[in-house]
Amino acid sequence: MTQDSFPIRRVDHIRHYVGNARQAAFYYRNVFGFNITAFHGLETGLRHEVDILLEQNNVKLLFSAPLRPGHPMAEKIAQHGDFVQDIAFEVDDVDWAYNEAVSRGATSAREPFTLSDENGDVRIASIKTYGDTLHTFINRDNFRGHFLPNYREHFEAGEGIGIQEIDHCVGNVELGQMNHWVHWYEEVLGFKQLISFDDNDISTEYTALMSKVMAGGGGRVKFPINEPAEGKKKSQIDEYLEFFGGAGVQHVALRTDDIIHTVTSLRNKGMQFLTVPKAYYAALPDRVGTIDEDIATLADLGILVDRDDEGYLLQIFTKPVTDRPTLFYEIIHRKGATSFGKGNFKALFEAIEREQELRGTL
Ligand code: FE2
Repeated sequence: MTQDSFPIRRVDHIRHYVGNARQAAFYYRNVFGFNITAFHGLETGLRHEVDILLEQNNVKLLFSAPLRPGHPMAEKIAQHGDFVQDIAFEVDDVDWAYNEAVSRGATSAREPFTLSDENGDVRIASIKTYGDTLHTFINRDNFRGHFLPNYREHFEAGEGIGIQEIDHCVGNVELGQMNHWVHWYEEVLGFKQLISFDDNDISTEYTALMSKVMAGGGGRVKFPINEPAEGKKKSQIDEYLEFFGGAGVQHVALRTDDIIHTVTSLRNKGMQFLTVPKAYYAALPDRVGTIDEDIATLADLGILVDRDDEGYLLQIFTKPVTDRPTLFYEIIHRKGATSFGKGNFKALFEAIEREQELRGTL
């Protein structure tokens, strides 16, 4: 199977279903610096839910909330808490993508349909992936409007913090299910496995996990998939699965070209990050060699560094952005490196365990 066996242009948007889209939009605008750009809701004739679109450079986040009891997503929000419900792809041909995916074994969520307004047509269909997560296929080549038909443009500027694009999205799946979903992405969407990490790579004294990184869409779409592994204590993946109520999106990595600016801005807005011990920075020059950034600045901000054959990367992880220890964000700045920060796993997982200890979930 070649990499072009399932053409995907890019991740189009990520949709969250939340209890209160207005407050979620306020948070992502005021902390992450997204612009609010469009909405669909009561004022535009949508009676059952509200959808608010936020954008920063190439990242589109859609926040949707039920407006009445009985909305099918209301019970999903009750089960999972606020959650990533859809990672949508822009494709050349929605009908082809949907029919091909279903013929290769995907379960349908929505058959192809057309949304229209005076600006033209958008074709949409959706398939199910792990847990309650969907992949929607979208094509808006015949649409001159903004985002989707019937949305109203509505601009509230955020102070952008340099977030450029979605680098990768990570899914947590149940024990023993990682290889099932690895094969699903290979078979259904023509993804290739980039890397595999086993519990020797990703373990501390107490906890372990396994991870495989899948890539599709010509390598632009990267989806690591994690499952828990046996350890002395409960792994962070088990903690997620318990609180989320099954498989789901664990973190979204947002790529920046200036991580010091991005993380300084987030910290100034009150975002909290995982932190590593000072010893991490003392060992850094020997581990990663010469880098452009001042190590004392990185240490102040808590930014981590790793190197691979192609270059290096800088990354940092937020604490969970929901009440439940489920969804968090990674900020990543790539300077040649195409990998995922394996050299930081141990320090990071020890940081997560310190948080789990505080939550009484280790
Ligand atoms: Fe990541």
